[in-house]
Amino acid sequence: MHIKVYPDTQSAGRGAARVVAALAADKPDAALGLATGHTMIPVYGELVRLHEDEGLSLARVKTFNLDEYAGLGKGHPDSYYEYMMTRLVQQTDLAEENMNVPDGRAEDLEAECRRHEEAIERAGGLDLQLLGLGKNGHIGFNEPGSALDSRTRTVELAADTRQVNSGDFRAEPGAPERALTMGIGTILDARSILLVVTGWEKAGILHRVLTGRPDPAVPATALHLHRDVTVVADREAMEEHFEKEGDRGVEFVVSGPR
Ligand code: GLP
Repeated sequence: MHIKVYPDTQSAGRGAARVVAALAADKPDAALGLATGHTMIPVYGELVRLHEDEGLSLARVKTFNLDEYAGLGKGHPDSYYEYMMTRLVQQTDLAEENMNVPDGRAEDLEAECRRHEEAIERAGGLDLQLLGLGKNGHIGFNEPGSALDSRTRTVELAADTRQVNSGDFRAEPGAPERALTMGIGTILDARSILLVVTGWEKAGILHRVLTGRPDPAVPATALHLHRDVTVVADREAMEEHFEKEGDRGVEFVVSGPR
């Protein structure tokens, strides 16, 4: 794992966005695996800025989101579909028809999960998978206990995940009980992985992820099974790791890439 540490959340977001932008410049028809959540807000903010100010084009990129809540989808204000629409599609030249978010409103959710896997395959596999980290170590909605070779499927959300995410629900209070998520095996099939972790609340779990062996109890430890993983973190998220392990092998990006 290559660990890049930025001074703060905003510069970490910019750093992560630069990785995505560099790929899109190098391979304009790249297949990108995307994530949602608070961590990604500065990442997409910077991609929008790069589009507006520096000519970044996402017109030919295909995107595949990690997850969606069961029962939510296009048009629902709290869906990940609408998150992607407002934060990226409506502000860049990324085409809505090139964006693939599993549909939480599909009649047959298992068939929808298979369709998402097949769409990724048809695109030739993911060039890059962007990931956030749940406080309980989840990636996508692969909660603790998820098999390390799991594929896209419907899952029960952990009680702590529903609690953490409950603040995101404006239409009706409380997070749904179920979700659709790419599996850990699906994620590990991506040719490269970029894990973005910011804030002191993630310092404990990030230390466990960085030092742990692959273990379903902490799903993100599965990333040790992949040979091209970059972790972009801010200093706060690295604090516990620095305390316990020091900073050997870590790259410090002193100022943001701007
Ligand atoms: C959420 C999402 C993940 C996200 C993670 C971290 O529940 N399902 O895709 O990466 O948990 O979220 P946040 O960035 O808001 O901390």
